[in-house]
Amino acid sequence: MTIPADAVEEVRRRNDIVEVVSSYVSLRKAGRNYVGLCPFHGEKTPSFTVNREKQIFYCFGCGEGGNVVTFVMKVNAMTFPEAIRHLASRAGVSLPERRLTAAEREKVSRREQIFEVNTLAEGYFRRSLHSPAGERARAYLKNRGLKEETIETFRLGYSPEGWRNLRDFLASRRVKLELAEEAGLVVKGQKGGYYDRFRDRLIFPIHDMNGRVVAFGGRVIGEGEPKYLNSPESPVYVKGRILYGLGINREAVRREGYAIVVEGYLDLLTLWDRGIKNVVATLGTALTRDHVDLLRRFADGAAVVFDADEAGRKALSRSLGLFLAGGLPCRAVVLPEGYDPDDHVRAFGPEGFGELVAKARPAVEYYIDTVFGTRGAVDMDRTRLRESLSFLAAIENPVERNLFIRRIADRIGVDEAVLKREIGSTGGEQQVGAPERAVREARTSGSKADPLEVELIRIFMENPGSVPLSTMREALGYYESEELRRFGGRLCDLPPEKIGADCAALLDGLADEGLRATLLGALVTRTSQGEGDLERYFNDACRQIRRKWYRRRHRLLRMALLKAQEEGNEGEVRKLLEEKERLLQEEKEEAPKRRNSEVDHGKGS
Ligand code: GTP
Ligand code: MN
Repeated sequence: MTIPADAVEEVRRRNDIVEVVSSYVSLRKAGRNYVGLCPFHGEKTPSFTVNREKQIFYCFGCGEGGNVVTFVMKVNAMTFPEAIRHLASRAGVSLPERRLTAAEREKVSRREQIFEVNTLAEGYFRRSLHSPAGERARAYLKNRGLKEETIETFRLGYSPEGWRNLRDFLASRRVKLELAEEAGLVVKGQKGGYYDRFRDRLIFPIHDMNGRVVAFGGRVIGEGEPKYLNSPESPVYVKGRILYGLGINREAVRREGYAIVVEGYLDLLTLWDRGIKNVVATLGTALTRDHVDLLRRFADGAAVVFDADEAGRKALSRSLGLFLAGGLPCRAVVLPEGYDPDDHVRAFGPEGFGELVAKARPAVEYYIDTVFGTRGAVDMDRTRLRESLSFLAAIENPVERNLFIRRIADRIGVDEAVLKREIGSTGGEQQVGAPERAVREARTSGSKADPLEVELIRIFMENPGSVPLSTMREALGYYESEELRRFGGRLCDLPPEKIGADCAALLDGLADEGLRATLLGALVTRTSQGEGDLERYFNDACRQIRRKWYRRRHRLLRMALLKAQEEGNEGEVRKLLEEKERLLQEEKEEAPKRRNSEVDHGKGS
């Protein structure tokens, strides 16, 4: 980490989670906690809970949770250092100079320098738009119906005609031209000189989530080839990770609960201009998994605009897999033939476009309809069928998946079981988002963790130093969940004051998201025991965990015994009976032994 740990600690201490969250979510007091509508998923009744005492948040609706830093990272889509810097400036904490390696310093400063050059260029393009040279560009924008406010908000500009306007401007600002080249603003010619990439074009700056300029798009004014020219990728611009307009529109996306996804700059701008603000654009590149993940931070769903033609259908099936794997519901907005969103909203107004979006159906449904047509109309060969069905394997929810399978089976007049077999053999499970699936499965299986095991850890975390360490360690030995056992073990190794300081950060040590969420939920809701009750409560939980462990072992033995008896395996039966005896004996002996150890080590050992 590039920011020293004690500085991070200070930043965290100086930013109260309730205050920070309050600037994004309206919170009200409910008992010891604060609750509000979750910013990470759409909801009508508040399940987003903030606990000031422990400086953590947790949403009972979607399972997001963490501390003030995690919150800022998630809500603003920031990296860890960005979030720390943001919180530091909010609380007026000055961060010490970071001690970076020379290579890191070089990389960081390279990025910062590129941002600086881009900002200079953005300003230059904007001034040019409003200069006499920008006359034609201004007229073009006016003709396309964009208001001044839209032009200003998206900081549109113009790159004048000629080969070295920007180049000379940047040079006059002492920008090294190699840097401008790396930013994609100038191109190196054959004789080694540099010339402007964008000439006589309307300029659309592309911003990241923090409002920094990462790249530019340039459109010819009127007709010409290529119609659009974009900055190449650079250290600050990776195409598949940026959605045009999301930085500016994220509040609208959050408010509406979903994002409308279009392709073009002008599609987005015209919609925005007419009051439809929850829009993002992919800029003609294919949608990526990163795009979906980015959207999911702000939206519960997407309404993706597709053309009604074959190309649109192809794009739809590709995007569909990504949305399914990313677990973000997606609806298909289908435009009438010959329209793009820009044309449509100009012809039918925001009401007309809004209606299309409102009646957009789930993309999977639309896909089935378009691919399989009406009943009996399809006579597909197996390969084609399998191809079209590969995405079905990616549907997470088995109920939902079966519903679709039944629907398709019905549609094409094939037996459901046959269809299931086809889908099973598509390999779609492996192809689409296998790691994401693992995470999600862990999430659900994690929530099935023994509540007692979670509870014991919660008590331990809330009362570090006042529950007997030796009892805790022993109880951990009886844990069913390996991950919780390991996590508990690590807690036992920490000095008590570390445990109290930032429980959310400690929870990051749990790889299993489900367990993390369960534990956070417990920490947010439960109350600490009164001092007097604590020990009894704690010991009680320990005893129960231990008893459960023995019960599990007995049950396993019983099952093995039954099997051995059925098979008539005398030797095995004898062995198992002996083991059972040993287990009973062990359980009897363990109980007093543990009581002794409590006396030995006492409180707060
Ligand atoms: P207008 O014709 O100005 O309305 O643009 P549009 O947004 O309708 O363009 P189109 O539907 O042709 O393309 C959608 C998006 O794809 C554009 O906004 C660009 O981001 C991208 N795109 C289109 N043409 C080109 C091109 O020639 N080169 C590159 N690099 N991108 C393009
Ligand atoms: Mn268009």
